[in-house]
Amino acid sequence: MSFSQIGVVGLGIMGAGIVEVFARAEYQVFGVAESALAVDAGKSNLAKSLARAVSKGKLSQEQSDEITARVTFGEDFALLADCDLVIEAAPEILSLKLDIFSKLDAAVKPSGILATNTSSLSVTEIANATSRPAKVVGMHFFNPAPVQKFVEVISTNHSDGEVVSQIVEIGNSLGKHLARISDQPGFIVNKLLLRYLNHAVQILDSGQASKEQMDAAMRELSGYPMGPCELLDLIGIDTCVEILKTIHADTQLEIDEPATGMVKLVSAGNKGRKSGSGFYDYSEKLEIPTDPNQDIKDQVHNDLLIAYLGDCIAMAATGYATKADIDSGMKLGCGLPEGPFEVIASLGIEKVRAAQVELSERTGIATYQPLSV
Ligand SMILES: NC(=O)c1ccc[n+]([C@@H]2O[C@H](COP(=O)([O-])OP(=O)(O)OC[C@H]3O[C@@H](n4cnc5c(N)ncnc54)[C@H](O)[C@@H]3O)[C@@H](O)[C@H]2O)c1
Repeated sequence: MSFSQIGVVGLGIMGAGIVEVFARAEYQVFGVAESALAVDAGKSNLAKSLARAVSKGKLSQEQSDEITARVTFGEDFALLADCDLVIEAAPEILSLKLDIFSKLDAAVKPSGILATNTSSLSVTEIANATSRPAKVVGMHFFNPAPVQKFVEVISTNHSDGEVVSQIVEIGNSLGKHLARISDQPGFIVNKLLLRYLNHAVQILDSGQASKEQMDAAMRELSGYPMGPCELLDLIGIDTCVEILKTIHADTQLEIDEPATGMVKLVSAGNKGRKSGSGFYDYSEKLEIPTDPNQDIKDQVHNDLLIAYLGDCIAMAATGYATKADIDSGMKLGCGLPEGPFEVIASLGIEKVRAAQVELSERTGIATYQPLSV
C-alpha cells in the first residue's frame, strides 16, 4: 500500500506538529478538530511554527507556503474518507478517544490504518472501539513533533504485522527513528519521563527545593535542555496528570500518583504554556534565574537522577525494552544529551547501585532500591 493522504484528528500541541511533519515530507494532509475555533487554533499553531522556522532560516518562505498548501483543515470527519492513515491526537481521555475511533471507523475507507498518538492509554481498548482492530496501532510522536526524531510504534495482540511494518516504513520516510513496543501504560519514554517529572513535583510539594532550583539543577548538572517544571509546562500539565493516572492504575505505586502540585495547577486552569501559565507565567518571555544554592541543586539533582537511572535499569532488566531503545528514546524523544545507559556507564554501575540504596534508605521509599537480578 502506498501512502499519500494522511489525516490528523486534534490540532493542539501534538496534532498541529504532526500535520507539519507529514506536510513537510510532501504528504497531502487533512487536519480535523471538533469546532471552528479549534480548527483556527490548529491553523495558527501550524502558521506560527512555520514562521519560526522561516525566521531562523531553516525554511524559505516558498517552502513554508508549499507546506501550508498541502494541508486542508476542517471540522468534518468526512474529510478523512480517503486517507490511507489517520493519526488521532485528541486529549488524553479514554472515553473521548473511544468515541473518536468509532467515528473514524465509520468515516475512513476500510483499507485506512488508524493510529493513536496516546501517551499512555490502552491501544488495545482503542482498537476494540472499531471494526478493524488489526489496522489500529499506536504512533507516538514526541513534542515538538517536527523536532524530536523518536516515534514509538505500539502494536496490540490484534495488530496485523504487515500494518505495523507499514507504519515503521512511513515513520522512516519522515526521517524518524522508530522503536517498536507492545501495548503497556506509558510505553518506553513516558513511563520513565513521567515518573521523573512527578518525582520533581513531589520534591517541590515537600518544600525541599523550589521549581527554579530544580530546573537549574537539571539544566546545569545534567545538561538537560529544560528542567522538570519547564518541561511539564511544555507538555501540558493536564496531559501529564492523565498519563500519570493511567500509569498509577497499572503500578499502584504511591510514587506514580499524580503529585498534588500538578493536580492543583490543573484544577485552577493553569495547564502550562498552552494556557498561558503553569509552573511559570508565559505572558512575558520566560527567564529562569540560575540559583546560587549549590547544595540544594546537588541534592535534588542526585535524587532525581538516581531514581530515574534505577527505573531505566529495572525497565531493561525486566525485558520491557532494550537498553538501546531506552537510550534512543530519552535522547531523540526528549532531547536529553545522553541516554541513561551512557550515564550509567560513565558513573559506574556500583556507584549508581550505592546511590540507589542511600536514596531508598534516606527517603524510606522501597521502590528506589536496586533491582536484585
Ligand atoms: N503534549 C505532549 O507533549 C504530548 C507528547 C506526545 C503525545 N501526546 C499525546 O497527544 C495527544 C494530544 O495531546 P496535546 O498535548 O496535543 O493536547 P492539546 O490539548 O494541545 O490538543 C488537543 C486537541 O484535540 C482537539 N479535540 C478535543 N476534542 C476533540 C474531538 N472530540 N474531536 C477532535 N478533536 C478534538 C482540541 O481542540 C485540540 O486541538 C494526547 O493523547 C497526548 O497524551 C502529547
